[in-house]
Order: sequence, then structure tokens, then C-alpha cells
Amino acid sequence: MTRIIDGNEVGNRIRNELEGRVDTLEQQGVTPGLATVLMSDDGASETYVSMKQQACDEIGIESYHHEIDPDTSSDVLMDRIDALNENPGVHGILVQMPVPDHVDEQAVLERIDPMKDVDGFHPENVGRLVAGNPRFKPCTPHGVQKLLAATDVETEGKDVIVVGRSDIVGKPMMNLLIQKAPMGNATVTVCHSRTTDLAEKTKNADVVIAAAGVPELVDGTMLSEDTVVVDVGVSRVDADNERGYEIVGDVEFESAKQKASAITPVPGGVGPLTIAMLLYNTVKAAGLQTGVDVTLP
Ligand code: GUN
Repeated sequence: MTRIIDGNEVGNRIRNELEGRVDTLEQQGVTPGLATVLMSDDGASETYVSMKQQACDEIGIESYHHEIDPDTSSDVLMDRIDALNENPGVHGILVQMPVPDHVDEQAVLERIDPMKDVDGFHPENVGRLVAGNPRFKPCTPHGVQKLLAATDVETEGKDVIVVGRSDIVGKPMMNLLIQKAPMGNATVTVCHSRTTDLAEKTKNADVVIAAAGVPELVDGTMLSEDTVVVDVGVSRVDADNERGYEIVGDVEFESAKQKASAITPVPGGVGPLTIAMLLYNTVKAAGLQTGVDVTLP
């Protein structure tokens, strides 16, 4: 029987644990705060940001939302980040990506105080992760590790194929999995759009993590029996329904399910973990900035 990995269940468990840490902070007079900044008209980005805010509210993290007209100059965004960096009630800052083309994304990431960089995208935090001393682990790959752990999938010594080399998922996923640490110690191959024979790689994997942003790129013919499949993709594709679209992952679920020993669905797989780990990083940031011990799992 193929196990369908329930991201909502694992995410809720983590959120419940974090609620206890928020109480600990409150007892010390600290309300953890997350600022989200959206400089985009994209419907999916708006949805993601509002889900993040709602998740904050549910466990007692104060959320502050800032919308910036995507047609304004990048100075407006930079000034806003500066103000949030200075605001002691804001422990975490998240600028939803992508930003408009006229805004230098790297400059935005570098502007955020690394102690408030709950995405883990600032070069200082990327460097710490690569050096094996992470401060804020990027939310989605950290969530994938938590999902694998909750499914009793040990990564040590396993051949893991990561499909996709993005700064948000593929690269940090690789760095987490090769760490000499729990849920690390894997042999990792990162595949991407120039990989010559993707199926040959995925067929020989113990674990496939699909994060290329290409709808249904990986199907059952590309997998061996007993592979664990984690689908990070979230794409809107046209559909003949009321909304006019449906959400699909990077994995063709029905055929992959026939082969995999365990698989994450889309939605309801990795997504809830991304949000849970953002809350995790925000609680951690609040602890680091205030000196309150929030010892996290
Ligand atoms: N856009 C897509 N995923 C993410 C994420 O994890 N963080 C931010 N800031 N933007 C994103």
C-alpha cells in the first residue's frame, strides 16, 4: 500500500508545539511578530501571504501586513524594510517573492536584517547553512525534512534526487540533506532543466524531491518501486471547472502513486509545512532577539 503523506497532520502537530513556545514568550512579555510585505498583483502570491498571516493569528503571532504598489520605485520597498528592521515588535520579515522585474531581488534579500530573515534567504544565513551552522533554515526544504522524519523515512545513506535548483527550494534542500545532522547524511544529486536523462536519475533514487515548478514533470514511468516521492510543485493549470484552473504539482500523482512507497499530495502535502516552518522561524527569531529560551524541536 502506498502511503499518502498527510502534510496537514504533520503541520498541525508542529503548530501545536509552537503555540506552547508562543505562550512561553508571552509569559516573558514578548509577543512574536511577523511582517509580510507584498509587492505584487499576483493572485497566488496574495493567497500565500494571507495564508501565512492567518497561520500567525491562529497561534498568537502578531502579523503586520504591508502592501506596496508594484508600479512604485524599489526605494519604497527598501525604506519599508529599513523601518521594519528598526521596529522591535517585528521579529521576522518576509518579502513575498517574486518582486517586480524593476526591483533587484538580491538587493531586497540583503536589505533585511539577517536576524529577522525568517525565510533564510539573506547571504549571511545562506552561508551559515552551507557552513553547517544554520540560523534560519529555509521554510520549504526544512518542512520537507520534517515530513520525511514524520513518515519515518531516514535520509542517512540514501540516494536522494532533488529536481530543481532554485534558491528557495532546490539549493537549500541539497544543503540540508548533505549536512552531518539528523535528517541529513544523504547522497544528493540535484537535477535541473539541463540534466540529460532525468528519468535515469529518478529511477535510481530512494527519495525523489520534485521542485522544478514544471507541472507533472515526474510520472510513474520515471520511478522505481519503493521510492518516496515528495512533491514541492504548486502550479495553476487551466481546467474546465468553476475557477477555470486547478492546482497540480510537479508529480503526476495517479501514476506516481502506483510506484511510490509513500507520496505527498498537492495540495495538502508540503504546503502546510512551509507555513509551519515559517512560524517556527518567527518564534526562533523572537527568542534570539529577546533572549527568551524557546528551545525548538
Ligand atoms: N515565494 C515562493 N515561495 C516563497 C517563500 O518561501 N518565501 C518568500 N518570501 N517568497 C516565496
